[in-house]
Amino acid sequence: MLNVALPKGRLGEKVYEMFEKAGFDCPSIRENSRKLIFENEKSSVRYFWVKPSDVPVYVERGAADIGVAGKDILLEYEPDVYELLDLDIGKCRMAVAAPEDFRDDPSKTLKVATKFSRIAREYYSSTGRDIDIIHLNGSIEIAPILGLSDVIVDIVETGVTLRENNLKVFETIFPISARLIANKSSFKFKNDLCEKVLKELAFQTGRDNK
Ligand code: PRP
Repeated sequence: MLNVALPKGRLGEKVYEMFEKAGFDCPSIRENSRKLIFENEKSSVRYFWVKPSDVPVYVERGAADIGVAGKDILLEYEPDVYELLDLDIGKCRMAVAAPEDFRDDPSKTLKVATKFSRIAREYYSSTGRDIDIIHLNGSIEIAPILGLSDVIVDIVETGVTLRENNLKVFETIFPISARLIANKSSFKFKNDLCEKVLKELAFQTGRDNK
């Protein structure tokens, strides 16, 4: 049985569709229920819906053999897992954003609100800028509007949230997409199943012969 941690939400639904096409179908997952674990013995697969930022925790500790997480989450938490494949979905970017009239004053410590403290710290340490991190868990865009921070480091997908809150991107830090990850010992001991998933998903993304 292959245990798969799926990120709850829209991305997870797309990911499940890719697994289904790869031969790891599990029809019960499509039933509208609040269940979080679904399995199909015939396809040798068991899926769990977990919070996207928790996927690497399940995979690193072996509660899941494989899973799908955004590159943002992998860079923030640096889990000890194998990153097997870029799935080419869940595309967005990590960016510095601020109110449109923001002008940086290098003589002052820059106040940065973010969910991604490590990424923000590393980015500003590479630019040599002195910062103060304000760690938040969501709705980051509000911070500069209320004067809690000068800028935010956050994910931008369509840009609608920034626009509707009169913020704009000042720097793009890196592009993001969803990655297939594997627990290191599962990759060894369930290698046939892991390789099958990898091969089939790589075929779907057009990365099979790279
Ligand atoms: C993410 C991100 C932005 C928004 C960007 O928020 O933190 O707020 O999506 O998307 P857009 O560019 O398409 O508008 P999420 O939905 O994860 O909520 P939260 O950060 O407030 O928890």
